[in-house]
Amino acid sequence: MQQIKDSVFSVGANDAKRRLFDELIPLPDGTTYNSYLVKGSEKTVLLDAVDSSMQDVLLNNLDELKIKKIDYVVAHHAEQDHSGTIPAVLDKYPEAKVICSDKCKLMLMDLLNIPEDKFIVVKDREKMSLGNKTLEFIYTPWVHWPETVVTYLHDDRILFSCDFFGSHLAKEDLFFDDAEKIREAAKRYYAEIMMPFRTIIKANIETLAKYQIEIIAPSHGPIHTKPESIINLYKEWASDEVKNLAIIAYVSMHGSTKGMADYLEEALAKRGVAVRKYNLTGTDIGQIAVDLVDAATIMIGTPTVLAGIHPTAAHAVYLVNALRPKTRFVSIFGSFGWGARIVETVSSMIPGLKAEVIPPVIAKGLPKEKDFEALEEMAATIAEKHKGLK
Ligand code: FEO
Repeated sequence: MQQIKDSVFSVGANDAKRRLFDELIPLPDGTTYNSYLVKGSEKTVLLDAVDSSMQDVLLNNLDELKIKKIDYVVAHHAEQDHSGTIPAVLDKYPEAKVICSDKCKLMLMDLLNIPEDKFIVVKDREKMSLGNKTLEFIYTPWVHWPETVVTYLHDDRILFSCDFFGSHLAKEDLFFDDAEKIREAAKRYYAEIMMPFRTIIKANIETLAKYQIEIIAPSHGPIHTKPESIINLYKEWASDEVKNLAIIAYVSMHGSTKGMADYLEEALAKRGVAVRKYNLTGTDIGQIAVDLVDAATIMIGTPTVLAGIHPTAAHAVYLVNALRPKTRFVSIFGSFGWGARIVETVSSMIPGLKAEVIPPVIAKGLPKEKDFEALEEMAATIAEKHKGLK
């Protein structure tokens, strides 16, 4: 528990040991489920709850603050890491009503069986008085579900942004202020959670520009006391600009594809292209997602397995496509023994990428001289394309 401002408290939970989110996303730095309590002169409101695994932490924090009555629980977002404990809060504070968007109400009824009469649906920009403090609810769809809302506390100029501007970074002190560490964790979070929605993120940032914000209090990770820093980073990440960076993501069974990946790395580097090379076996897929925020090119390398691509490569290609990065160029390379549909398989899996496909290079067995010449040409083409980047 931590005081954020006069009558504003952090009452959420730190889950530093958690290592996987949604059974999918690696959490090298754990996470927090931030929940905030605002005590107005007439009404008390809880903004978001916590993951149900941390229910006791939230309820104990409320006891510690001697909270006898909660009037409203604001559910910015229906995902259970923030809503999971709402039923327990409603049990403990039976007068409380859940404030949320129309879509969020339906989701919470489905996900948590919260009865319909417990809800107050608010409209976009609707205000609510707590006595001496005023909340304003702002619809910010698709950061990262369709129902999401953020709350602006007028008097203290705090934006409670839920997942928006968050990071999976478990620090006991929410005022943790290592700017570089926060940037790194926030970029990873953006890459894994927000990147597919970058167009609407830009619109949401414009909406928020009308508000004077002194503090951004997200529902994961540290609070931002210099809001312009994280907002500017989001603008950069969500922009259409890409960097002179190529990702080589490959898997290799007997060394042929690895040899091609190594060759490409050198051929690109000598032409001035920055390269990040990942052997997909054992790679934290979150690292690749982070590079996809900026990279102009992604190159997929895979051997042939049962006429298709290696399942480890398929997993990566599926996620790359789902994340819809702004990557401009894609290339495919790999090897086969007696028959392969590598190019057809990868091409069919990336409809979400609006990227130009560079002619692929597929070697029969070990790459030979003609394959290396083709890789040289591939590297030259990519380097040339990167020179024209704007
Ligand atoms: Fe942190 Fe989308 O929940």
